[in-house]
Amino acid sequence: MRFLVIGAKGMLGQDLLEHIALRGHEVVGLDLPEIDITDPTSVAKIMAGEWGKFDWCINCAAYTAVDKAESEEKLATEINGLAVAYLGRLTADANIRLIHISTDFVFDGTATEPISEDAPTHPIGAYGRSKLVGEQALGGQPHALIVRTAWLYGARGKSFPRTMIQAFRDRKKLKVVNDQRGNPTYTVDLCRVLVDLAEKNPFPGIYHAVGPETMTWYDFAKLAIEVSTGTEPEITPCSSAEFPTPAKRPAYSALSNEKTSRMGIAPMRPVREALTEFWEKLSF
Ligand SMILES: NC(=O)c1ccc[n+]([C@@H]2O[C@H](COP(=O)([O-])OP(=O)(O)OC[C@H]3O[C@@H](n4cnc5c(N)ncnc54)[C@H](OP(=O)(O)O)[C@@H]3O)[C@@H](O)[C@H]2O)c1
Repeated sequence: MRFLVIGAKGMLGQDLLEHIALRGHEVVGLDLPEIDITDPTSVAKIMAGEWGKFDWCINCAAYTAVDKAESEEKLATEINGLAVAYLGRLTADANIRLIHISTDFVFDGTATEPISEDAPTHPIGAYGRSKLVGEQALGGQPHALIVRTAWLYGARGKSFPRTMIQAFRDRKKLKVVNDQRGNPTYTVDLCRVLVDLAEKNPFPGIYHAVGPETMTWYDFAKLAIEVSTGTEPEITPCSSAEFPTPAKRPAYSALSNEKTSRMGIAPMRPVREALTEFWEKLSF
């Protein structure tokens, strides 16, 4: 199959280019300035065949600055919402199936067990609201899949475990939030699930794809440092109230992988195993 990855210079996009090629498919990666998803003419040219024909388009392009989005919601919504609507229309016209990446931030954090695809959405911040606009623009389109993921970390981008490992190496005193729970998801493992999905000629709709373990940021920081240094770090747990940020974050946003599991898609690796590979690939 032939894939187009948009947002190819981002943390997920870079790993996706490598993974799709490793799986024996053809892939073209585009990002700013070759393509601007907020400009329908730029997208239309590509869909009309400027880079050849595609079976699948995977959209990783997004406005991802969660805190900044609180003061730039219009821009976030243009990129994460309105542009996704154009992309949906133009891929449908060009007969290209679309996988659009979305987020656990469309939920409000009040769930108490892993959230399924049909649970009601209720974002509590601007980023989540902007991503929900994108989801709603694609809802019901027969060529489109929305894949919600969470707590992404990859060796080719800024990520939470990288920041924690760097801070530990710099001998900083670490204090990490221990009252938000989610599923750390390694980009390479997400890439595997995305290609598995595409190969299965899936039904349109929403899919959840996250790592198999639910933990707090505090647990995740401890594990990342332990894997990278072989020592158990001293970290002070704290509450979200002690660490205020412009954007509110869901207290619990574990997603259920049951739907992909029922399709025969294998779960992602346990966090310790994925972090070990992440650490081997990481360079500072
Ligand atoms: N990171 C996470 O923890 C996380 C969690 C859940 C879901 N997600 C979702 O996963 C996807 C990938 O995330 P990521 O962390 O890989 O993001 P990322 O590293 O920020 O990559 C996004 C890429 O999109 C590009 N981009 C921004 N605006 C664009 C536009 N108008 N046209 C074309 N390209 C544009 C960015 O370029 P610039 O850098 O130049 O702006 C960047 O290269 C996103 O949909 C995100 O919402 C991420």
